[in-house]
Amino acid sequence: MTAIPLIVDCDPGVDDAVALLLAFAAPEQLELLAVTTVGGNVPARLTARNARIIRQIAAREDVPVYAGAEQPLVRAAEAASHFHGESGLGWLETFEPDTPTAAGHAALAIVETVMASPARTVTVAAMGPMTNLALAIKLEPAVVDRLAQVVVMGGARREGGNITPSAEYNIFADPHSAQIVFSSGLRIVVLGLDATHQVRTTPDRLAAMEALDTPAARTAAQLLEFSQEVERRLVGPGPPPLHDPCTIAWLLAPELFTAVPVGLNVETSSPLTLGHTAVEFRQDDLGAPAIRWVTEVDADGVYALLLQHLTR
Ligand code: BDR
Ligand code: CA
Repeated sequence: MTAIPLIVDCDPGVDDAVALLLAFAAPEQLELLAVTTVGGNVPARLTARNARIIRQIAAREDVPVYAGAEQPLVRAAEAASHFHGESGLGWLETFEPDTPTAAGHAALAIVETVMASPARTVTVAAMGPMTNLALAIKLEPAVVDRLAQVVVMGGARREGGNITPSAEYNIFADPHSAQIVFSSGLRIVVLGLDATHQVRTTPDRLAAMEALDTPAARTAAQLLEFSQEVERRLVGPGPPPLHDPCTIAWLLAPELFTAVPVGLNVETSSPLTLGHTAVEFRQDDLGAPAIRWVTEVDADGVYALLLQHLTR
């Protein structure tokens, strides 16, 4: 497998941080061109710092981190610090990283990186509100044809929402950007809650991670212990879902996932269902779909992949 040129757009965020650890640990399979950050789970200055903290723990200062949008395109910012802690990294001890953010806005970095690379080679893994990507498309519409694909964590269809009864957080946090991305014609794979709710951090899986005793595994385990506690406190008994790492797992081992072509639009005006993803499975109505929706995940396979990489 030749390494996939990749931009990770994220809002760390506990599960974003685990996704970054996985991506940083797979240099043979992923050529990480940049990490771009966006305000989301916590404000933008914290997501940019958190990405740099994880980069330092992973000893991957070769990868630039660009800070991006502080606000969603239209609506007011709405953090999810109840799920990620005030810092965004749960119980992880935070510090000021040695290496600063790279100069320039994340949206511009996406445009410049994609336009400077050969056509249809660069993938974006989007695991936060998609403000940076929407801005990039508006700044330079040619990125749509130029990108290979976008792998999105966001949305919900068969599962209900996790921030409102019908909306998943990343789409709810910036529904207007999400609609720009989904209606752009980009080739997109979507891992919504229908997929990520199949991948749970059970006590056995967490114990296996703790036993690895590498810096990356220790960090991931500490992050996910916080998720377990939050799930128990805010959602109910049962292991918490592992959302964002699924985007990286899709890139590393797509055979672990089943995806079907769909149509997809985002509700942007209803106060009741803002951020709902209307997913159309009926094949006759689809025309030439560019969007694939993940329906099934081999959760044991995703966890095995994660553990295998965190041993590095
Ligand atoms: C998504 O929302 C965020 O809180 C998580 O980081 C993940 O990207 C799950 O709905
Ligand atoms: Ca996220």
